[in-house]
Amino acid sequence: MPNDPITVFGGSGFLGSAIVHELLGAGHAVRIAARQPTLPAWVKESDPLSLVSADIRDEASVADALDGAGGVVNAVSLYVQGRKTRFDEIHVEGAGRLARLATAAGIKRLVHISGIGSDSRSRSPYVRARARGEAEVIAEFPKAVIVRPSVLFGPRDAFLSNLAELTRLPVIPLFGRGDTLLQPVHVVDVARAVVRLLGGNPPHWRIYELGGPDVIRYRDILTLLLTYLERRRPLLPVPFPLWHLVALAASVLPNPPLTRDQVILMQQDNCVSEAVGTFAELDVVPRAMRDCLPECLTTT
Ligand SMILES: NC(=O)c1ccc[n+]([C@@H]2O[C@H](COP(=O)([O-])OP(=O)(O)OC[C@H]3O[C@@H](n4cnc5c(N)ncnc54)[C@H](OP(=O)(O)O)[C@@H]3O)[C@@H](O)[C@H]2O)c1
Repeated sequence: MPNDPITVFGGSGFLGSAIVHELLGAGHAVRIAARQPTLPAWVKESDPLSLVSADIRDEASVADALDGAGGVVNAVSLYVQGRKTRFDEIHVEGAGRLARLATAAGIKRLVHISGIGSDSRSRSPYVRARARGEAEVIAEFPKAVIVRPSVLFGPRDAFLSNLAELTRLPVIPLFGRGDTLLQPVHVVDVARAVVRLLGGNPPHWRIYELGGPDVIRYRDILTLLLTYLERRRPLLPVPFPLWHLVALAASVLPNPPLTRDQVILMQQDNCVSEAVGTFAELDVVPRAMRDCLPECLTTT
């Protein structure tokens, strides 16, 4: 039914809440599913938005969250695994469960959020889990669309705000020589792409990789931020083996500021590849990060 709600798993997260906002703006009814779902601060009383408590690891709660939905988005994340929750539980088994139950519920559209660089042969358990999760989703829901964003930026993001904090140090350590290429993408542009994929004609591609208009070296992003923030700091190349030692030492902390998976991710470029769908097919013109610094760094 056209007015059946779209269930957004992880709809209270950074990307998920942007997707919820854009879906409401496009006239959809929306259901936010998360372990502790919360209403966004911007919500209006008249918005057709509801909350449902669901854990992607729990069969019954996922089935409840999908009941009567017209479409579903999986924007659940786990960046750091611990003894209690492993990557596979969320990114492979959870993703597969959601896809299987969506098929059983007769849901027409499923958009699964993954990330550029997902690779079943990676040294990183996180990156391997993302690749295996994608395969699981396609096996359980063959018409699912996989969306792989590059690194996300936007107001109250983790990316630019953490880098801006780094520029307070007297010397800024680089990952290697800082040559890794990134293609930062605005969270709202990805959200708009997801809305496109949920409505209208069936999408042409099974996988969409979404990156911003600029491919930028990590060190050049820092230089851009330093210029914007009017700070002068030297950039210090730090070899990757040293970063792996730092991540190993940090792994004993309850909330490690850096993980081995993040170091491995920074060892390879994170840009849109070929033979995948892109923003161009979705009529979304992504905005450049340099133009968005004022809205993203207002409190820095
Ligand atoms: N941020 C980036 O730069 C970036 C880049 C590329 C790809 N991505 C991908 O985009 C997706 C969303 O990332 P994000 O950064 O927006 O994540 P986020 O801000 O950390 O939000 C995660 C969401 O998932 C929910 N969640 C976590 N565990 C859950 C569980 N067991 N069951 C149900 N819901 C659960 C959280 O709510 P509760 O805690 O209340 O459950 C929250 O709503 C992920 O797949 C991520 O890998 C992100």
